[in-house]
Amino acid sequence: MEKFDFYIRKVQSRINKNQKRALDSYLPLNNGRIEKDGNIYLNLSSNDYLGLSLNPILIERGCEYARKYGCGTGASRLVTGSPEIFFEVEEKISNLKKMDKSIVLNSGYQANIGVVSSLASRKSIIYSDYLNHNSLVRGAILSGAEIKRFRHNSLDHLEELLQETKDKKYSSKIIVTESVFSMDGDIPDLEKIADLSEEYGCIFVADEAHATGVFGDNHMGFAKRADIVIGTFGKGGGSFGAYVSCSETMYEYFVNFCESLIFSTSLSPFNIGAISAFLDLVPDLDDKRSRLLNNAALLRDGLKNLGFEVIDGFTQIIPVLTGSEKNAIELSMFLKERKILSVPIRPPTVPENMSRIRLSLSASHSKNDIDYTLSVFDEYQKRSA
Ligand SMILES: Cc1ncc(COP(=O)(O)O)c(C=O)c1O
Repeated sequence: MEKFDFYIRKVQSRINKNQKRALDSYLPLNNGRIEKDGNIYLNLSSNDYLGLSLNPILIERGCEYARKYGCGTGASRLVTGSPEIFFEVEEKISNLKKMDKSIVLNSGYQANIGVVSSLASRKSIIYSDYLNHNSLVRGAILSGAEIKRFRHNSLDHLEELLQETKDKKYSSKIIVTESVFSMDGDIPDLEKIADLSEEYGCIFVADEAHATGVFGDNHMGFAKRADIVIGTFGKGGGSFGAYVSCSETMYEYFVNFCESLIFSTSLSPFNIGAISAFLDLVPDLDDKRSRLLNNAALLRDGLKNLGFEVIDGFTQIIPVLTGSEKNAIELSMFLKERKILSVPIRPPTVPENMSRIRLSLSASHSKNDIDYTLSVFDEYQKRSA
């Protein structure tokens, strides 16, 4: 046996299933477009929902902080401490979230793994929505807790599981959900989850990755009654980094036990600058939010009228179901030939026969972009009829 055989076989199995992934490069452009291989594409694959990634105010604040505080912090915050700008940003987050305390973390992925794994132990139980993001699932597995997955957005199923396990002794009980689901773009009944959490003595954790900047109170998310809210700045926030907001008690706990905070060099001052500017801008982005959501409604309705199966909702994430993986790839290729970039999502990310094209919009897209996209889908539909 050669020492790399295992890995070669694993990649080969991806190639055999037509599922091999690869990295490629692009150049970001304004107006929701990117350049790849010399072509300009309408980008319907990004989570830069508000089109802030090229915003000069975010870039300038990032540069200002980098010039003043350096391009790296050199250590975990628990080792050297952190420049004052970290605490200023955390206070802004807490004010917007109307929660006691917040901590910035290095990415949504790290935040989820660190927060969820630190909340539970082998003696805990985690109730997790079936479609929760990989980072939430990994955090749950890492904790060693008993994990019960409830059917996507089925709070009857969640209640059944809570009922079944209510007489067992656990050191902590945790319910984890996303507030806007990354793949389906839909929203759970967060009020009902909060009620169930109270009734069954659970900690309620909500991941606001796809709501931050777009929805909810102060545009920082929907989950008003969650005990612990996690969000990322890498999507609607236009830059990078994440946060967890919580009570004073849980803040003390995370500072002492959240390993992705403790054992990782903190975000760079550039990132803190971009986050700081985003938090200042977020209240005044109504024109961007309404363009984004109007375009989402136009595209969703238009696709339905053309006969495509689209998961219902009102968010900027529009999944077009194709059934088979082959159809998803074919549709995505067709769109690419017409200079629209979209992501085919297929197993193992989604269950068999639930493959789809995930379209995600940005406030940088115009009404003409939506009309053009619909005309391409129309052409595809007629061609395949
Ligand atoms: C629901 C959800 N949570 C967390 C993450 C990870 O966030 P980040 O990209 O900041 O690591 C993602 C990324 O796609 C996500 O969809």
